[in-house]
Amino acid sequence: MVRQNLKKVEHIKVDESIRLFPYVYGLNNSSGNSAKRSRPTLIYLLLISIISSCFVFAPHFLSFPYPSALFLIDSSIKEIENRVPQNDTESPQTSKNEESILCDRTGYRSDICFMKGDIRTHSRSSSIFLYTSNDLTDHVSQENIKPYTRKWETSIMETIPELKLVTKDLKLFGNKRKCQVIHEVPAVLFSTGGYTGNVYHEFNDGLIPLYITSKRFNKKVVFVIAEYHKWWEMKYGDVLSQLSDYPLIDFNKDKKTHCFKEAIVGLRIHGELTVDPSMMHDDTTTINDFRNLLDQAYKPRINRLEIEEEHQFHSTASKRRKTQRPKLALFSRTGSRGITNEDLMVKLAQRIGFQVEVLRPDRTTELAKIYRVLNSSNVMVGVHGAAMTHFLFMKPGGVFIQIIPLGTDWAAETYYGEPAKKLGLDYIGYGILPRESSLYDKYDKDDPILRDPRSITKKGWQFTKEIYLTNQQVRLDLRRFKKVLVDAYAKSTS
Ligand SMILES: *[C@@H]1O[C@H](CO)[C@@H](O)[C@H](O)[C@H]1NC(C)=O
Ligand SMILES: *[C@@H]1O[C@H](CO)[C@@H](O)[C@H](O)[C@H]1NC(C)=O
Repeated sequence: MVRQNLKKVEHIKVDESIRLFPYVYGLNNSSGNSAKRSRPTLIYLLLISIISSCFVFAPHFLSFPYPSALFLIDSSIKEIENRVPQNDTESPQTSKNEESILCDRTGYRSDICFMKGDIRTHSRSSSIFLYTSNDLTDHVSQENIKPYTRKWETSIMETIPELKLVTKDLKLFGNKRKCQVIHEVPAVLFSTGGYTGNVYHEFNDGLIPLYITSKRFNKKVVFVIAEYHKWWEMKYGDVLSQLSDYPLIDFNKDKKTHCFKEAIVGLRIHGELTVDPSMMHDDTTTINDFRNLLDQAYKPRINRLEIEEEHQFHSTASKRRKTQRPKLALFSRTGSRGITNEDLMVKLAQRIGFQVEVLRPDRTTELAKIYRVLNSSNVMVGVHGAAMTHFLFMKPGGVFIQIIPLGTDWAAETYYGEPAKKLGLDYIGYGILPRESSLYDKYDKDDPILRDPRSITKKGWQFTKEIYLTNQQVRLDLRRFKKVLVDAYAKSTS
């Protein structure tokens, strides 16, 4: 029965339109394992070398989206959020002429400090000074902070250099450190070290917190970056330009004394890939506003791509685009957590009526191109992993199907399923059955690894990682998965 089905779908022709956008994704119509790469643009070719050299020094880029967080398995995200009482990004005391360094260390995920007054950077000593003519004798004159949003993960925080926020006597020291660059707008200082290099962390720990923290400045803000990476600026340049009108400052490299009247050191964070309106300064901003910002960010690049294509394909391209069927975007992985019968799944989806686009992003894939595909897709499908972060690029109302390998339920729901629902996506978690896992061939049917993954994952991160994350592939039961696809198709056409 299954066999017959499979034979039939093999005759379905690969969708023509797939050939129109060969650079966005390499659809693999023969074998499921050859990794055909998208064609990088010149600048991205250059980037590869920069990036790879960066990563030699970034030991954590291979890390998974949820390292020690899995140890928190019993404390739900709600609980974590309840431990974050602070609301907005406004300094607690805000009278205009006040000089102050105030730190909020109540957050579970991050510390944040607010500085006001005569602020001058001194990167050589990893310091930011606040010069004052007030009497300093009975003030705490120094605060230390690591401007990164994974405060509870001691191992990664150990890799983040500490910054010193120091109050100094203006009369005694003011002349020593003259301003070399005077800024009229506030600074927001944060680190792009830690887990940066993993797209989930780049959005979750970096861009969304940056949005939360800096939105109220309405682009009139300078970003000062500790552990700056050129590739990061290239990768997120379009997004950053929506958040700030000013060039970035590489804190460690730029030895000049930059002067500000106001600075925020560290970022606010509300939860997994989300923005909590009740914690925003204006009470109304949601994760959808962040998504709208992405749309604005990628628009110019996408417009240019479209013009280029019109030149290349003339009228045929635009004609094709008009007769579109519902579109399904599949995030393909090879190796661990890959789908071994992906080709058949693609054909099945095409037979149901989808136009299928297969994405195989790597570090050099332009996000604008991924955004473009997802913004025009009705359905996104992928196996649990950092690439699921791209659900942020789907339009609210779209369907997001996350295929959940054994032993990854909690992480899949917490890191992607729940946040996707907050964005307004129609989320479907497809938990695989033991027989859809490659582990089925390795272990006895009664082995707790298959029968009771929770009992294994409870033992700790190493177990989860070795057994379920790095050594498991998915072999979809297409009859079972078909129901989900048919359901998604119905939603896409209604
Ligand atoms: C924080 O938000 C809560 C509920 O939205 C509100 O009652 C409280 O006053 C806010 N606190 C601050 C400091 O704005
Ligand atoms: C995303 O899709 C919406 C609606 O289909 C469209 O209005 C918008 O321009 C698209 N965004 C980009 C950047 O192309």
